[in-house]
Amino acid sequence: LSRNVFPKGFIFGTATSAYQVEGMAHKDGRGPSIWDVFVKKPGVIADNSTGEVSVDQYHRYKEDIDLMADLNFDAYRFSISWSRIFPNGTGEVNWKGVAYYNRLIDYLLKKGITPYANLYHYDLPLALEERYTGLLSRQVVKDFADYAEFCFKTFGDRVKNWMTFNEPRVVAALGYDNGYFAPARCSKEYGNCTAGDSGTEPYIVAHNLILSHAAAAQRYRENYQEKQKGRIGILLDFVWYENLTRSKADNYAAQRARDFHLGWFLHPLVYGEYPRTIQNIVGERLPKFTKEEVKIVKGSVDFVGINQYTTYYMYDPHQSKPKVPSYQQDWNAGFAYAKNGVSIGPKANSYWLYNVPWGMYKSLIYVKKTYGNLNVILSENGMDYPGNLTLAKSLYDTKRINYYKGYLIQLKKAIDDGANVTGYFAWSLLDNFEWRLGYTSRFGIVYVDFKTLQRFPKLSAHWFKQLIAKDKK
Ligand code: GCO
Repeated sequence: LSRNVFPKGFIFGTATSAYQVEGMAHKDGRGPSIWDVFVKKPGVIADNSTGEVSVDQYHRYKEDIDLMADLNFDAYRFSISWSRIFPNGTGEVNWKGVAYYNRLIDYLLKKGITPYANLYHYDLPLALEERYTGLLSRQVVKDFADYAEFCFKTFGDRVKNWMTFNEPRVVAALGYDNGYFAPARCSKEYGNCTAGDSGTEPYIVAHNLILSHAAAAQRYRENYQEKQKGRIGILLDFVWYENLTRSKADNYAAQRARDFHLGWFLHPLVYGEYPRTIQNIVGERLPKFTKEEVKIVKGSVDFVGINQYTTYYMYDPHQSKPKVPSYQQDWNAGFAYAKNGVSIGPKANSYWLYNVPWGMYKSLIYVKKTYGNLNVILSENGMDYPGNLTLAKSLYDTKRINYYKGYLIQLKKAIDDGANVTGYFAWSLLDNFEWRLGYTSRFGIVYVDFKTLQRFPKLSAHWFKQLIAKDKK
């Protein structure tokens, strides 16, 4: 395996997000986001930590970019914090925040690293949540498009790869179905939240996210694309769902899972409507696109990022319809992590993450078959180690190398079989704030001492460096 076996021009990068790495959460004029209040709720974050300092990329971006360059990476996928640019979500601009992203982008370019800028990674400005219930309100569509347009206008002379949202499914499902992520709404039947309705709110939020994406893409295409010569896409998480047995019922369960996971977003973006399975199952609770909306939603991605980490078996649990509906119950699909007593793959530190390389291949071939010859980047892939290992143990991350190797081989195989994948991003460059797991989970190929903030490349970083070394010819 080496860079040379991938198509010419194939991009290797690493990915991070603003709240997970920047720090300076309450400084230099940044307004709070819904995560800043969520992390303060007792018992929410595993180690009671926050992203207030995190790994302080805000000050250490040069060091981090030097590292990327030294490791031979071509690109960096980062996110812009909406409330660092617009502390109130709309209106007044925080020019210190703008200056920070200018510094970051300029230094990336100086070091020959292509910026991939994502506009939203879970961090909705708190002001919008308070003003009009945030993503539940249609008002967010215009406000997001205004924010996006400001970014195109300000950074688009240098940023040519734009992404609107990271994992909108996670935003809708974890934020509004089971309440695991901010703003933590759900029906009280499903968790310890009382404010929400898990049977309707995830669908309303997803709908508003799709319309927000489409509105931003429309602004980009109409006002900037021709001049700036860039492209716009979205980042979608995808788990490969393999039917547990070959029964019809299990087959359909796996298909439902794929539709409720990926199709929920990608189907409208490509075909202008929700997958049939979702339409049939969710029925009246599913918002509809008007004719006008279909026009701007359909075909609104120049490329799609797929975040692919893991694979599960799916089976039909033969359950009758529950009295209280929820997004998760709409799938009506059972998850299994073993078949005939054989585990689907070795487990990482995160409870949800099994190392299953063949799922990478199947995911990419599925995307190609179902959604045509879309331009795809594999925008996240990686595995974590526990946070409390010694430095020496953390640096000797052979399991991670094994994971990356297995998945990259399958990615390459998918390309050979026709998948139109043009880039790959490892999650993540650095150990960082892993949402509810706080700092108890380390996804970086570079170790960070969370006390001194010193960076130490792990073995996997050295492995990447060799793998993607550029021909000296
Ligand atoms: C995402 C992910 C990242 C996580 C990573 C490991 O939304 O892109 O949640 O932010 O840190 O997937 O869990």
